[in-house]
Amino acid sequence: MRKLAFRHGTPLYVYDGNLIVERCRQFKKAFDGYPAKVRFCYAVKANTNLAILTLIRKQGYGADVVSGGELDAALKAGFAPDGIIYTSNSKTEGEIKAAVKAGIKITADNLADISLVKSAGGRKIAFRVNPDVEANTHPKISTALRDSKFGLHFQDDMAFKAVKKAIDAGLSPSGIHCHIGSNIKDSGAFTEAAEKMMAFAKKLKDELDVKLSFIDLGGGLGVQYKDEKTLAPEEFSAASKKVVSDGIKKLGYAPEIWFEPGRFIVAEAGVVLAKVNSVKETPAKKFANVDCGFNTLIRPAMYDAYHKVRVLGKKGESETYNIAGNLCESGDILAKERALPRIERGDIIVIQNAGAYGFSMASNYNSQPLPAEALVRGGRAMIIRERQNIKDLYLRQKSPSGL
Ligand code: LLP
Repeated sequence: MRKLAFRHGTPLYVYDGNLIVERCRQFKKAFDGYPAKVRFCYAVKANTNLAILTLIRKQGYGADVVSGGELDAALKAGFAPDGIIYTSNSKTEGEIKAAVKAGIKITADNLADISLVKSAGGRKIAFRVNPDVEANTHPKISTALRDSKFGLHFQDDMAFKAVKKAIDAGLSPSGIHCHIGSNIKDSGAFTEAAEKMMAFAKKLKDELDVKLSFIDLGGGLGVQYKDEKTLAPEEFSAASKKVVSDGIKKLGYAPEIWFEPGRFIVAEAGVVLAKVNSVKETPAKKFANVDCGFNTLIRPAMYDAYHKVRVLGKKGESETYNIAGNLCESGDILAKERALPRIERGDIIVIQNAGAYGFSMASNYNSQPLPAEALVRGGRAMIIRERQNIKDLYLRQKSPSGL
C-alpha cells in the first residue's frame, strides 16, 4: 500500500481483485440448490471501472445498468446484451433507443417508457414494480416505499394496468423487477418482496395469460461497515427460497429468478489511501486534515456512513481524531472521533470498505481532480484509471470572448 501511494500519489482507490472474485463466487454459491434457474446481474452503479466490470463479467455475471453511460460501459466490458438489464425511473428517448438497439432487457418504470420502447421498435418489455416494502435501511437508500419515486406501484393496480397497456400496444411482457433498497440487514424485507412479486406473477398469469421469462428480485445485500450484524449471502438466498419454490408450483411454470448485487461484490474490496496534510488541535477536537474529501468518498457526508479507518504502518489507539476532508464544507468529515495511533503530517490514512459507491459517486467539487484507481490481482498492481490533472478540469469549458 505504501509503495502504491508513493508511486501513484494520493488520494488513490485500491481494489483487491482476488476479493472481488471471491465475493462473486460466494454470492453465486449461496444459490446452490435454489428452486429456480438463477441469474446474477452485477449493479454497475456500485463501481463502474471497466477493469472491474471485466473481472466480474468473467465470473459469469450479467449487468444491471441505470443509464446510457452504464450500458455503454457494460457493452465495452464485454457483457452479453442478453444478460444486461436497464432499470431507471427516468430514461431519455435516446437511452431507450440505444437499449432497444443493443438488444438488452428494459424495465418500464412508468407509462411513457412503454410507448418509447414500442416506438423504438422494441418487442419485449419488463416492468419495475414498487411492492411497498419497508427495507429498514437508511431512508436515502430505501427504494420501494409507497412514496418512493421508483417503480410501478401495486396500489390501485397501477403495475397491472401498465402490463395491460404494454400488451395492448403489442409488446410482450418478459419480466418483472423490484429493488427494495440497499445495505439491507433484514431478511424479512426480502421475503416480503419475493412474496409480493410471486403473487403478482400469478395474477398476470391468471388474468392476462402472461408467462414471464424472469422475475428480478434486485440487489440490496448489505456488508459490515462497523460492527453491525449483516446477512450472509446464504441468508439472503434463503429469504426468498421457499417463497419462490411455492410460487413456481402455483404458477405452473418456472421463470428464471434474477438478482442484482452491487455493494456485496465490491464494497469490502476497495480502500481509499489519503495523505495527511496537517494535524490540528482546536479547543474542541483534534483533526487530521487529509488530501481528499467528500468529492472522493461521499458516503460519510451523504448517509452519515461509518467507514473504518487506520493509519498505514502504525498501531495503537492513543488519541482521538476526526479525519477531515480538504473541501470547504463543515460536513466534510470522513471519520468522526476515532481512536487511532498518533498521526503526523505525511501519514497515510486507509479508509476501508470504499469499493462500492466510492469512485462511482466522486466529483470535481472545489476543483479537485478525480483520484486514480489501482487494482491488485494475483500479486500484481495495475493502474486502472489515471488520476485527473488540473488541465482536465477545463476540458469542454468555454470562456467566450467579450464577456
Ligand atoms: N438494482 C437496482 C435497481 C438498484 O437501484 C441498486 C442500487 C442495486 C440493484 C444494487 O444494490 P446493492 O446490492 O448495491 O445494495 N449510494 C448508496 C447506495 C445506492 C444504491 C442504489 N441502487 C450508498 O452509498 O449506500
